[in-house]
Amino acid sequence: MYDIEILPKNHCIVSGMRTTGRLHLGNYHGALKNWIKLQSDNRCFFFAADWHALTTDYEHPDKISTNTSEIILDWLGAGLDPRQATLFIQSHVPEHAEFFLLLSMLTPLSWLERVPTYKELKQKLKEKHLATHGFLGYPVLQSADILLYKANGVPVGEDQISHIELTREIARHFNHLYAKGEQTPVLPEPRPLLTKSSKMPGLDGQKMSKSYHNTIELREDPKSVEHKLKTMPTDPARVRRSDPGEPEKCPVWRFHQVYSNSEVQEWVQVGCRTAGIGCIECKRPVIDAVLAEQAPIRAKAQEYQENPREVRALLKQGAEAAREVAQKTLKEVKQCMGLSE
Ligand code: TRP
Ligand code: SF4
Repeated sequence: MYDIEILPKNHCIVSGMRTTGRLHLGNYHGALKNWIKLQSDNRCFFFAADWHALTTDYEHPDKISTNTSEIILDWLGAGLDPRQATLFIQSHVPEHAEFFLLLSMLTPLSWLERVPTYKELKQKLKEKHLATHGFLGYPVLQSADILLYKANGVPVGEDQISHIELTREIARHFNHLYAKGEQTPVLPEPRPLLTKSSKMPGLDGQKMSKSYHNTIELREDPKSVEHKLKTMPTDPARVRRSDPGEPEKCPVWRFHQVYSNSEVQEWVQVGCRTAGIGCIECKRPVIDAVLAEQAPIRAKAQEYQENPREVRALLKQGAEAAREVAQKTLKEVKQCMGLSE
């Protein structure tokens, strides 16, 4: 699989996040930090996918707009820089929708029914009535998001690989149907830039994920962070302070692997196995490290939060910059498909 480290510079990078809630530390370590790394050397388009949020939350859209604002603050707080990357909200660039419509014409139903996330989510979210056209079409909209900017690379997690594969198939199909024999394909096939699976554990040791209720939000209140970490489970063998434990069986150790240097890690390994340290003691460096990581992010986000006009302006600029590229591609696509201006 393609590794984010070997990407040549000056590529066009596109990625989005569904606006289904505030970001947590798993999203930060898994995705956002990579985006931040990519922004200085590439032409990056990053957007808040509010239409994609609607595909599953259309019955309760009340929170989508708040979630969108929160995610934008998460991004800015964490260090996505609107002067380097183009940041925008998907629904502010209507070209995504028009392109989605056009790609829908040539995408076989069977390709969509085969997508693993479709089958899985439809099963998992049964109560949500997801037998909709929009939900089936989710990856076509995602393809439109990507192909609209002729992206070379799409930083995503493992779960999104099938969507990028589909995007590549749609691009190939489009080029074959409408642009045969062109020197350079009208729609280049993007590569997935697989984000190395985040080592960020949840509070219970499983992967950190909203659906497991084991998250710490990126900008969570410090008191709440401290409380969550202080009460998180440890190796159950350590009933009493004098009982030795095994870090491998403890979710706190997984946090040390993300946050602690080798010296502290050694202190945990030895101290735990010999009952030389207590669990409260052991958690202290983790608590301090998480709080230290979050403090500047929270502060920077706060500044933006106090300047909503600035945020609105930068999103407007982002959408305008995105539309410029999007309109160019769409014009080409419409020509290919026999539509007049
Ligand atoms: N489907 C992606 C997710 O759930 C979000 C997304 C929407 C996206 N459009 C995209 C990711 C385009 C990359 C490129 O995470
Ligand atoms: Fe976990 Fe640390 Fe307690 Fe060992 S000492 S069980 S690693 S919290």
